[in-house]
Amino acid sequence: MRTPLVAGNWKLNKTVIEAYKLVSEMLPGLRMVRGVEKLICPPFTALMAVSRLLKDTDISVGAQNMTWEEQGAFTGEISPLMLAEFCQYVILGHSERRAYYGETDVIINRKVRAALAHELRPIVCVGETLEQNEAGIAAEVVSQQVRDCLQGAEPTSTDQLVIAYEPVWAIGTGRAATADGVNTFIRNAIRPVVAGLLGEGFSQGMRVLYGGSVNPGNAGEFFREAEIDGALVGGASLKAKSFVDIAEAAQGVR
Ligand code: PGA
Repeated sequence: MRTPLVAGNWKLNKTVIEAYKLVSEMLPGLRMVRGVEKLICPPFTALMAVSRLLKDTDISVGAQNMTWEEQGAFTGEISPLMLAEFCQYVILGHSERRAYYGETDVIINRKVRAALAHELRPIVCVGETLEQNEAGIAAEVVSQQVRDCLQGAEPTSTDQLVIAYEPVWAIGTGRAATADGVNTFIRNAIRPVVAGLLGEGFSQGMRVLYGGSVNPGNAGEFFREAEIDGALVGGASLKAKSFVDIAEAAQGVR
C-alpha cells in the first residue's frame, strides 16, 4: 500500500515573512489530514524558517533544486549536504529547470544519485511537451526520461524515490490531463521502466505523482486512480485553503 503524497511546489514565490505567514495559515488544516504525507517546497531562502515552523509536525520540507557537488568552488550553488540540514525531499528535473536552465537527463541523473547518497528523497519530474504529445510520442519520451534520470540510482527503499509525471502542456495552464489517461500512462509508460531498472517489487512500491493544474476541484479525480499516488501542486499550493483542500482530497482514497 502506497501512502499518498501531496507536495506543494512554491517555485519562485514568497519571501521569508510571506512563507512564515502562509505555512502558519496552512498548519491547522494540514495537521488534521491523516494518512497522507504532506510536503512543502519553498524557495531556498525560506527553507530554514519553514523547517523550524514544521518541526514536531508530520509535514515534510523539500527544496526545488540542488547541485550534485557536496562543496567547493561552485559559486551560487546549493548542495545536498546543505539541504539535508533542513529537507527530507528535493524536486529534481522540473520542466521549468529543463526549459529555462538547460537541465538535461544526464544532469538530473547526477543530481538524483547525489540526493540519494545524502538521504534526501528525490522527486524526479518527467513529462512530454505539447508538441511531443501531439506527435504521439509521449510514452516514448517519458520512458526515456525515466530510464536516463534513474540510471545507476540505488534507492534503499521504495519511499526514497518519487516520480512526478507532469505533462509540460498541463503545468500552469489550467488545462489538466485526464485522470484515467494519467493512470494508464503511469501503468504502461512509467512503472515498467522502473521495474526494468529496480525490480518489479520496487516499481509497485514507489510513488508516482501527477502534476499540472491540480486544484481542489479536480484533485479527487486523480487521487481515486489506482496508479496515482498524490500530486505535485504549483499554483494551488500558494493559497492555504486550496492546498489544504487538495491534501484533504487525498484522505481515505487508499
Ligand atoms: P501547476 O504547477 O500546479 O501550477 O500547474 C505544477 C508544477 O509545476 O509542479
